[in-house]
Amino acid sequence: MEVAQAPSPSPTDNQPVDHALVTAYFVAFLGYLIVTLLAGLSYSLQFLQKYPFPGVELLSPGRVRMVHTMSVAYGMLASGLFGIVSYIVPKLTGFPVLSRKLAWWLYGIYNAAVLATVAMILGGHAQGLEWAETPKILDPFIALTVVGIVVNNITPIWRARAEPYYVSLWYILAALIWTPLVYVFGNFLPEYVFGGTAGAAISSMYIHDLVGLFVTPLGIASVYYLLPVAMRVPLYSHALSIIGFWGLAFFYPLNSAHHYLYSPIPMWAQYASIVASIGVHVVVYTVVFNIFATLASDWKQLVTNFPVRWIFMGTLAYLITCIQCAVQVTLAAQEIIHFTDWVVGHAHFVLFGTFTFWITAWVYWLLPRIWGTPIYSLSLGRWHFWLATLGICIMQIDLLAAGVMQGYLWKSLAPFIDSVRASMPFWWTRTFSGILILVGESCFILNIYLTWQASRERRAAAANLQPSGATS
Ligand code: HEM
Repeated sequence: MEVAQAPSPSPTDNQPVDHALVTAYFVAFLGYLIVTLLAGLSYSLQFLQKYPFPGVELLSPGRVRMVHTMSVAYGMLASGLFGIVSYIVPKLTGFPVLSRKLAWWLYGIYNAAVLATVAMILGGHAQGLEWAETPKILDPFIALTVVGIVVNNITPIWRARAEPYYVSLWYILAALIWTPLVYVFGNFLPEYVFGGTAGAAISSMYIHDLVGLFVTPLGIASVYYLLPVAMRVPLYSHALSIIGFWGLAFFYPLNSAHHYLYSPIPMWAQYASIVASIGVHVVVYTVVFNIFATLASDWKQLVTNFPVRWIFMGTLAYLITCIQCAVQVTLAAQEIIHFTDWVVGHAHFVLFGTFTFWITAWVYWLLPRIWGTPIYSLSLGRWHFWLATLGICIMQIDLLAAGVMQGYLWKSLAPFIDSVRASMPFWWTRTFSGILILVGESCFILNIYLTWQASRERRAAAANLQPSGATS
């Protein structure tokens, strides 16, 4: 039987964290989540020749696909992770960010730039680089805002340097240093400096490092913080967590060319990326082992503690995608799965199944605490969990199977259209799984909205109970 997470804000919770800012980032996360899902679902209908906006140039499928992926990376995941960083850094260091006012400006400028990206992509003004479709004119704004977020958050980490850092701060510090570099490398160098194969090599580094050096370290930092706090048990092993950190720092940046295996990028770089990708498994297994070993101190909490359940499922998805990665990084597997739906399945499972699930754990854990109200409905929460889990598992199995089938058909040199016809049942299943996810996430948003409403009513009732003339 589940129990609601009793909100227990301690007196120190008010300082030095800016709770309103964290809340604003989480609200942005929820907003972009809906954009992501609607764009993904609409685009999936194009594969079924049932696109809902035929002939509407502004909503043409190619543009909607870019809105989908940009909203995933720069809208949804970035907002969720920036929200978590805005909580963890002041909480662990004991110092506020350099300037709260600056933090709000950065929040506003960043969101304006992301919304302008969506509007301009729909207007037909994308940059022609994979995952870097943000229009060129907006790139400097995003880059400068990210630098601002870095400076604002590194200041408290620097001030707290006299004490040893908890592992979450190691990961956050590294991600804060890497992220502006990743953005500038990926958006400017292939566009203005390196063309051809060299540009592709840089692009592959950007594609990989956006996930590997931005999303992954912040995601891991978030779990290393939340899991022990939510479970009220110590982390299984700090030594292991630090080994994982250095493994990530060493191996991840060397992985990138594995996105372009069999391409004209020099073979030695491709082989090196394969070896480094195997090395990344050291990181993955230390993190997964540490999380599961921490969970093992009280498995019951998987049932009784709602945020912990999301962390568990996200970690399981992380393990599965990473084992999958070990398979798909081999040249033998690439021969079949390259350019197929296998890769799309992999992308969804890790970005939704792992990182979105981990951020979701945070939203369920933190917002009720900030608002001083338990989550409105555990039943809605359960629907959310099972629909999202079922949806993403069906999508992953479906797209992996589609990918293998497509790869073998292409290898047999059958006419391409045969593979399109054979893919139809898989694409219908993908859309069906997307609907499950959309319904599940709608339960989530409704639940959070009702929790907020309940907190307002509670506050209003408390204010009415105060003796007249008293001020709070
Ligand atoms: C309603 C649920 C969703 C549906 C139906 C859906 C559908 C799609 C479709 C049709 C594509 C294009 C595939 C192609 O061009 O062959 C795509 C790409 C992508 N989607 Fe989704 N999506 C959904 C949710 C999500 C979520 C929640 C995330 C991340 C958290 C996500 C991440 C991605 C990524 C990263 C790609 C690019 C994959 C690649 O280029 O390899 N999607 N999605």
